[in-house]
Amino acid sequence: MLKVAVLGATGYAGKELVSILTRHPYVRPYYITSESFSGQRLDQVYPELRAVCELPLEKLDLAKVADCDFIFAALPHGLSVKEVPKLLETGKKVVDFSGDFRLKDASLYPRWYGYEHSSPENLAFSVYGLPEYHREQIREAVLIANPGCYPTSVLLALKPLLAEGLIETDDIIIDAKSGVSGAGRSPGQAYHFPECTENFKAYKVAAHQHTPEIEQELSIVAGRPVTVTFTPHLVPMIRGILSTIYVRITAGVDEAAVNAAYHKHYASEPFIRLLPPAELPETKHVSGTNFCDLACRFDSRTGRLIVVAAIDNLVKGAAGQAVQNMNIMQGWPEDTGLK
Ligand SMILES: NC(=O)c1ccc[n+]([C@@H]2O[C@H](COP(=O)([O-])OP(=O)(O)OC[C@H]3O[C@@H](n4cnc5c(N)ncnc54)[C@H](OP(=O)(O)O)[C@@H]3O)[C@@H](O)[C@H]2O)c1
Repeated sequence: MLKVAVLGATGYAGKELVSILTRHPYVRPYYITSESFSGQRLDQVYPELRAVCELPLEKLDLAKVADCDFIFAALPHGLSVKEVPKLLETGKKVVDFSGDFRLKDASLYPRWYGYEHSSPENLAFSVYGLPEYHREQIREAVLIANPGCYPTSVLLALKPLLAEGLIETDDIIIDAKSGVSGAGRSPGQAYHFPECTENFKAYKVAAHQHTPEIEQELSIVAGRPVTVTFTPHLVPMIRGILSTIYVRITAGVDEAAVNAAYHKHYASEPFIRLLPPAELPETKHVSGTNFCDLACRFDSRTGRLIVVAAIDNLVKGAAGQAVQNMNIMQGWPEDTGLK
């Protein structure tokens, strides 16, 4: 059994990860951390984990991390950038949940994340952990930058279209909605129940930190620079992301070519479900799963293709994808512990 460390186990993403790991046949959570709740057990913070994971929460201690075989860091961005280089010194493989190692261009961090990147050498070295894009590199990786939740839904929706040259690369509009758990467990006024229930709003318009991440990965697939208009929204539900994406198809492309592209790229993907023609993705249908549900419609009046993607932000958008990455890195079947 692989002994696993989970840093930030009390966060929503970390707790989801521990839950998945307790059901994984080849690993066991061994060392789990929290600053605020150290001294308590995880099941005291999350009673639903009673008799499932009763490990003590401890403050982050590198010597204890080094005693583990594999490391997950589910820490806030801005903190991971400082901690991950120290974690790598243990010689163990690391999957980092934050945005701190996702962007290859260090100069983007001040604008989008508000800090100067202190570890640019690790940006070159990290592998963007979206298996449907980078499976071969993930196999050999030592540091995985686990993708953001919004980018996961968007990148999966658009890969076949860009890879096959079926859409224009300068006219992509992403209208995405997330449940409140996407903001993490730390209290904030915008996420206070009376503020967000019975409410629906856009936020960080033209300024969300996932924008350069989406553009970076789409550009790799397209083989040329791709820009997007990305507007996230906060929805009064706990979990789930629904992204509705409007693209313009290139001249001569028809619906059959679009469908053929999706089947070509995703027929053998374990966690992509292409929905039957009459159905559209819904967040409830992927809740608690590592699936991404996809469907598209061609609007012949406007010449636009509308692609809809649904994921669970905490599973395919975070913890499930992290475990999928670990499975690939360890040479295990990719869906181990995830189905
Ligand atoms: N939520 C999502 O849907 C989602 C999706 C994809 C990626 N992510 C990424 O995953 C990471 C965690 O997100 P989250 O939503 O789980 O956040 P969260 O609920 O706010 O949890 C953050 C975790 O980090 C720990 N932490 C905070 N400050 C710390 C410090 N100074 N030293 C050590 N530990 C510290 C917290 O521990 P204590 O407070 O107990 O001390 C907690 O366990 C973030 O980078 C986020 O961007 C989240």
